[in-house]
Amino acid sequence: MEFMDSVLIVGGGGREHALLKALLRTDRALCTFAYPGNPGMERDGCMLVDQEIKGWGDLADWAEANEVNLTVVGPEVPLAEGIVDIFKKRGLLVFGPSKAAARIEGSKVFAKKLMKKYGIPTAGFEVFTAKDKALAYIEGKGAPLVVKVDGLAAGKGAIVCDTLDEAKAALADIFDKKSFGAAGESVVIEEKMSGEEASVFVLADGKGYKILPVAQDHKRIGDGDTGPNTGGMGAYAPAGAVSAKMMTRVEEEIVVPTLAAMEKEKARYRGLLYVGLMMTKEGPKVVEYNCRFGDPEAQAVLPLVHCDWYEAFLECAKANGSVSGVEWSVEPGYCVSVVMASGGYPGKIAKGKAITGIDVAEGKDGVDVYFAGVSATGAKKEKHKTSGGRVLAVSAKGKTLAKAIASAYEGVAEIKFEGAQYRTDIGAKGVKR
Ligand code: AMP
Ligand code: GLY
Repeated sequence: MEFMDSVLIVGGGGREHALLKALLRTDRALCTFAYPGNPGMERDGCMLVDQEIKGWGDLADWAEANEVNLTVVGPEVPLAEGIVDIFKKRGLLVFGPSKAAARIEGSKVFAKKLMKKYGIPTAGFEVFTAKDKALAYIEGKGAPLVVKVDGLAAGKGAIVCDTLDEAKAALADIFDKKSFGAAGESVVIEEKMSGEEASVFVLADGKGYKILPVAQDHKRIGDGDTGPNTGGMGAYAPAGAVSAKMMTRVEEEIVVPTLAAMEKEKARYRGLLYVGLMMTKEGPKVVEYNCRFGDPEAQAVLPLVHCDWYEAFLECAKANGSVSGVEWSVEPGYCVSVVMASGGYPGKIAKGKAITGIDVAEGKDGVDVYFAGVSATGAKKEKHKTSGGRVLAVSAKGKTLAKAIASAYEGVAEIKFEGAQYRTDIGAKGVKR
């Protein structure tokens, strides 16, 4: 045990379960911990932190006491709260951007101003802190437009408005009802772009970087991109929405300038930079940045990349680390991940519904199930119940996209719980292409 490397994963969703599985695909003897983790991670051999954690300082204490070598942070909230700075101050190695760098996701105003200052392509915008000025602006501009709250809003902070009335309602919600609290003290109002969306993940060590296979998320709850926005209902990779030629433009016009801009702003970026793209007629433009892997994109991208993720994350965590020496290969073929969500999601959900068939789905060739909103009871924690909006994700790889889709849905067909919702068209756009 004492010669083992150890890693602590922060977070407990499908993305963190995917990070765990990726970390474990190595010959390295690795001891894994998670806070808070989930029953799927625990079942896969990860020990969950069983101490009360009141703040990130407590978790740093725990990591220190348990001689954790590396901490990998999954979600944006701890990053925006400065978990990386807290760990680093203690001399602990941690994968993720600093609090200053996490503003790239934590503040849309920061991100938009950065793009404007450094000429990175994105939708034109204005920033407002008062409703009357915002109202006057939208009346002048007219619909369509997009209203975005500045701060983190669990994926609900961007309101695409096709009519002026919708935009007015969004402003009333933000400024009068204060539905977004402090996150809505400033708003960005921007042009509506059109085109296909894609998620590009950049593993950045502070100087160099590696780009992962491009993924496409499916944000709306319903088939054919209908209904309200969600955290993401499924993803596939690699996504044909970004051709190799376009990818060169993305790298030259967006990735390189963004990393350089962050350095100039004294917020050198180390960690995973998620570039949310819109492939417009004029070329690729940034919809948003995130400071972490996407969920469910991670469940579709990580299985395709073969490397020692412990080493890759460690190189990004070290002061003078470099990802350039990390052996890395991308598997040919595709990976598809289908999210199964609770009834009512993304609105009010019903929890505590018995889930059956996870083991049967996992028994299928090439199928992986990633736990998110799942609770487990029983002597062997074998009884599963729903405990959140997005319950789990079923991923499968295939030589062709069509085969990967078929395998993922074979897995989905085995898993049952009352009210289960999932899209039946994950990856369909890619097949059509
Ligand atoms: P965001 O929270 O910025 O990622 O936005 C969430 C979703 O809203 C995006 O994935 C897009 O589908 C949509 N969206 C955001 N900004 C724009 C825009 N300027 N034009 C069109 N759609 C947008
Ligand atoms: N799936 C979108 C996100 O993680 O933000």
